[in-house]
Amino acid sequence: MKQTTILSIESSCDDTSAAVLRNDRILSNVIASQKVHEQYGGVVPELASRAHQQNIVPVVDAAIRNAGIRRSEIDAVAFTRGPGLLGSLMVGVSFAKSFGQALGIPLIEVNHLQAHVLSHFIRESDESPVPQFPFVCLLVSGGHTQILLLRSHFDMEVLGQTIDDAAGEAIDKAAKIMDLGYPGGPIIDRLAKEGNPDAYRFAVPHIAGNDYSFSGIKTSFLYFLRDRIAEEPDYIERHKADLCASIQQCIVGFLVKKLEKAVRASGVRQIAIAGGVSANSLLRSELQRIGEKNHWKVFIPKFQFCTDNAAMVGIAGYFKYLRGDFADISLPPYAR
Ligand code: KG4
Ligand code: ZN
Repeated sequence: MKQTTILSIESSCDDTSAAVLRNDRILSNVIASQKVHEQYGGVVPELASRAHQQNIVPVVDAAIRNAGIRRSEIDAVAFTRGPGLLGSLMVGVSFAKSFGQALGIPLIEVNHLQAHVLSHFIRESDESPVPQFPFVCLLVSGGHTQILLLRSHFDMEVLGQTIDDAAGEAIDKAAKIMDLGYPGGPIIDRLAKEGNPDAYRFAVPHIAGNDYSFSGIKTSFLYFLRDRIAEEPDYIERHKADLCASIQQCIVGFLVKKLEKAVRASGVRQIAIAGGVSANSLLRSELQRIGEKNHWKVFIPKFQFCTDNAAMVGIAGYFKYLRGDFADISLPPYAR
């Protein structure tokens, strides 16, 4: 079989990442996370693109070095074209174009969301299990919440999605209300381990079909705490772990309940999760639980492939390479 070596670049938000894949095998995956945003409680787009500019050359260098390959072995450059922050995308897209042109190799544009889902096909060895089509994937990140039915690598049908906030956004906002720091997802996950998930009940909205809505949960959490703090100023501090465990259970419970219903209706017997929120320990164990209960095969990504990374862009790029699906040098990034 022909060996195809792809350098891939991801810069859609606040992680600068580069990876090298040989066919579907990962040779390297380097991620530089930007710490600068923590003090602002969220990603500052201007600072993100500036940090990408500083990081991109050393990150790509490290990816090539860690892979143990020479530049001349690279067959194509894959890059995230969108969606994401325009200024951030611009850095990765421009770099990929110049790199590809300098080496005289083709470019492959990748959609960030497809990349998250296709991360399940990255193999570390011959034994690495990969999903069989069709399968259902819950894509949950800071910007997206979708239940997708995959019939092939690039045939994804949206079975349901959020009508307002993304699940990760709701978790991050809950953390912000409690002044826990940014990004809130991993902090809530950690604190929740010490708390009682049944301590508080936050109402989940009734949304038709397979769709989700998270903005109401966030608002009821905010109002609930506002009332408690009025009576007891250090309320959050004293009940932090229970609050984290309860809001996490509310959001994850909602995600999993709708997912289970959608998968049952689809008749599909393989399920997966992808995106930053798939790093959540409760979501991971809940997926396992519904898998066992329904006799479904479950695919949970390794932590390094949950949040933004270039390896997932590389695997999506590899499948496009096999189809001869190359991008023109004039292609602009897209935010939405
Ligand atoms: O996929 P990602 O890195 O970026 C986007 O494409 O949005 O996802 C980031 C999101 C953030 O909302 C972050 O709080 C959430 O993933 N996240 C988590 C955990 N780790 C990251 N949420 C819950 N539990 C975690 N352990
Ligand atoms: Zn992402």
